[in-house]
Amino acid sequence: MIAKKFVVAARPMGGLAKQDDFSLVEEELLNLCEGEILVRAEWFAVERFMLKRMEQIPIGAQMVGAQVARVIDSRCPDFPVGTQVVGFFGWRDLTVYRVPSRGMESYFSMYEIPDLKGLHCTHAIGACGLTGISGYFAIQKVFDPAPGETVVISTAAGATGSVAGQVAKIRGCKVIGLAGTDDKVAWLKSAGFDHAINYKNTDLDETLRLVAPNGVDCYFANNCQGGIVLMTVLKHMNSGGRIAYCTSNFNHGRNKQAVFDFETFVVKQIKMEAFVASRWIDEWFDTAEKIRDWILEGRIKVAETVKDGFESLPQAMMDLFSSGKCLGKMIVKA
Ligand SMILES: NC(=O)c1ccc[n+]([C@@H]2O[C@H](COP(=O)([O-])OP(=O)(O)OC[C@H]3O[C@@H](n4cnc5c(N)ncnc54)[C@H](OP(=O)(O)O)[C@@H]3O)[C@@H](O)[C@H]2O)c1
Repeated sequence: MIAKKFVVAARPMGGLAKQDDFSLVEEELLNLCEGEILVRAEWFAVERFMLKRMEQIPIGAQMVGAQVARVIDSRCPDFPVGTQVVGFFGWRDLTVYRVPSRGMESYFSMYEIPDLKGLHCTHAIGACGLTGISGYFAIQKVFDPAPGETVVISTAAGATGSVAGQVAKIRGCKVIGLAGTDDKVAWLKSAGFDHAINYKNTDLDETLRLVAPNGVDCYFANNCQGGIVLMTVLKHMNSGGRIAYCTSNFNHGRNKQAVFDFETFVVKQIKMEAFVASRWIDEWFDTAEKIRDWILEGRIKVAETVKDGFESLPQAMMDLFSSGKCLGKMIVKA
């Protein structure tokens, strides 16, 4: 049996990937051994961290990433044929996978899809997967905000930011979302954000003065754009304000870089905490279920941008870094 997979053909330049940076190659699969399964990809999650990985993994290495997949052959009784799984198999259509012994250490490799109670399976790699859960942890673990506090979310209409903002609303906060298009601004308002600002065509400094007259208590730094948004929000933060720092795409080499305002940072005694979601891995599945329930109750709205076909993965990756081409989670249907 022959699998198709995308490998890194060249390093992305200037903070953006292009079609030639990816190469589609074939790989012959071996017959299954005891303890192995064969899965077929159904849906792929396309995420910003993948661009970072393209800069780090060797040329010729397979693109990384999560997928929803179906077991189509099995020599592992825990995962019979037909089981739907979330697997970190990368950008490939067929995968032979050796199932590790059960335990949290194997979590990021593969697990049976959680019970989504009727939600579409793509939620397992979106709002109830890495990105949504990261947004949830930013609010619940890093901020733990009091009702009435003002929370600003950058890239608020993205996969991570959209969940973060809506969890902050559930916590009773005043939530201000920043996004790069007017359509996203409209979506944020429909999702219950108190204010939504197009940071690209608005004077962010001036607008924050108007919509957050009592200052900002928490800032979810999810879109750094060279730190320019961060430094603007910092001006409006209250003393003792908290910043949750989540993004790995700091500058991308194409944004002007802001000068870090150390003085304001110190004078206001700002607490900035970087985090990776795996810090709370033992709460992963409970959190996925909590987000699922909030979606089912209509308290969290989910947006997805879906592209069709395995071959469209590179284009999806390119579109992810264009404000107007991706609302919510970027998904590719295999
Ligand atoms: N720490 C963790 O554990 C963890 C876990 C998951 C994700 N993350 C990070 O969270 C961030 C969000 O990831 P995501 O998968 O949810 O992506 P996303 O927010 O859905 O990404 C797409 C959006 O990013 C914005 N964008 C485009 N170009 C950009 C650039 N050059 N610099 C910054 N933002 C740009 C655009 O929105 P706007 O123009 O509207 O802003 C675009 O629509 C990423 O940095 C990711 O690495 C961290």
